[in-house]
Amino acid sequence: MNAPWPSSDITAASPNSGNATLAGYGQPSAIGRQSLAGYVGDEASLEVLRACLAGLGWPTDRCQLGALDDAAQALAMTPSPAILILDLSGDPAPLDNIQDLAQVCDPGTMVIALGETNDVQFYRALQASGIHDYLLKPLCPNELAEAILAAQAVLAAPPPAQATPASQHITTAVIGARGGVGATMVATSLAWISSCDLAQPTALLYLDIQFGTGALSLDLDPGSGLVEAIENPSRIDGLFIERAMTRASDTLSLLTAEAPIANSVPTDGIAMLHLAEELRHAFTATVIDLPRTMLASLTPLMTEVTTIVLVTELTLAGARDTIRILDWVKTHAPLARVTLVANKVPSGICEIGPGDFESATERKLDFLLPLEPRLAINAAKQGQSFAQACRGGRMGDTLLAIARAVCASDDATAGTKLRAAPSLLGRLDPRQLLARLSASTPGGGGKMGG
Ligand SMILES: Nc1ncnc2c1ncn2[C@@H]1O[C@H](COP(=O)(O)OP(=O)(O)OP(=O)(O)O)[C@@H](O)[C@H]1O
Ligand SMILES: [Mg+2]
Repeated sequence: MNAPWPSSDITAASPNSGNATLAGYGQPSAIGRQSLAGYVGDEASLEVLRACLAGLGWPTDRCQLGALDDAAQALAMTPSPAILILDLSGDPAPLDNIQDLAQVCDPGTMVIALGETNDVQFYRALQASGIHDYLLKPLCPNELAEAILAAQAVLAAPPPAQATPASQHITTAVIGARGGVGATMVATSLAWISSCDLAQPTALLYLDIQFGTGALSLDLDPGSGLVEAIENPSRIDGLFIERAMTRASDTLSLLTAEAPIANSVPTDGIAMLHLAEELRHAFTATVIDLPRTMLASLTPLMTEVTTIVLVTELTLAGARDTIRILDWVKTHAPLARVTLVANKVPSGICEIGPGDFESATERKLDFLLPLEPRLAINAAKQGQSFAQACRGGRMGDTLLAIARAVCASDDATAGTKLRAAPSLLGRLDPRQLLARLSASTPGGGGKMGG
């Protein structure tokens, strides 16, 4: 069973030692384990199970009529299969009996339970006891096949030692110091550049579950994958991610949702941490659009974050909240590298000039992005990220420079995959850029108080 043993045991004890394939099914492993056995309580379910296995090209002879007792007796005498299908219907104390079964079941066995109890508390208790999945009877062949393949995928996942080393994966969290400063624009652009210009398989995770505009800005269907992940954290695995994510291109996938406003969606920091860990295994780079209002509830996620892009505006409120978020980051993500970006910098007068902003926050502004309303309209009309819509222009080059600074993996920084270096304007020091902008606009000042 999946728990109470540590998850690393699952793959260690997997009969295929991390190389499980459908072809390997039914072959006794080196330690004498079969890949699947099933005990079901009625003929109709047995028929569906056998038809399902036959459809998957797997042998059907290890499936029989039987209950939990029969499974326990068999397991006491033979090595446990990698996947065990158990029918709990009719069992007066299924949760207790599952615990007893764990005593005779080898670690790493993935248990798929069947039953007739349609109750969320019962389902959660089963999950807590280490059951991989629970399917309601009468069995739906498609759901059964999905559950078996999902269990197989977990067994086939590489053990942690073979996974991409954390040091090679870049997880970038983009946080807006204030509402509407352009955090989503920056996150979408960075992910697009990471996937396209840096040629890195990239995941874009929008954590604004109800009001996020990530999918909208890329003209994509948001799907409901993120809500499913939050509601069923134990189901998050490689296969789940593959199914739940929306593909924007061959190298860019996004995970988001547009949850109904009426539903209160819990934000579970541990679930999101688990999700980020899975993304780390599946992609080279992850960009997270992280609403600042969720920082407290998502604190555990910060252990996965390698770089933070704090997007702000040159206003008093922007300076105040930049200071507050930088303080929070110092405590909760002390190892993350922070890049500070001022966005929507007007070409004329600013509420606070960049020099005063830097003095107030005691922090250098790393990049300045100009206010470009026309570009915003174009990008929205075309359903493209800013970076894509203004590729090759001044804004595009600065976004590319930010992406190269914050989310390029070792491979990408080696330069072989990078497109041409940005134009001179893109490499300008922020203050020089602002000075140019101000100089080109009569009355442009950029000092505090105007
Ligand atoms: N540099 C810019 N010039 C002009 N418009 C911009 C710029 N950056 C972003 N915008 C526009 O500002 C609006 C808000 O941007 P965005 O949604 O990225 O902000 P946000 O910080 O994510 O907002 P929220 O707090 O609601 O999540 C969008 O319409 C976007 O197109
Ligand atoms: Mg946003």
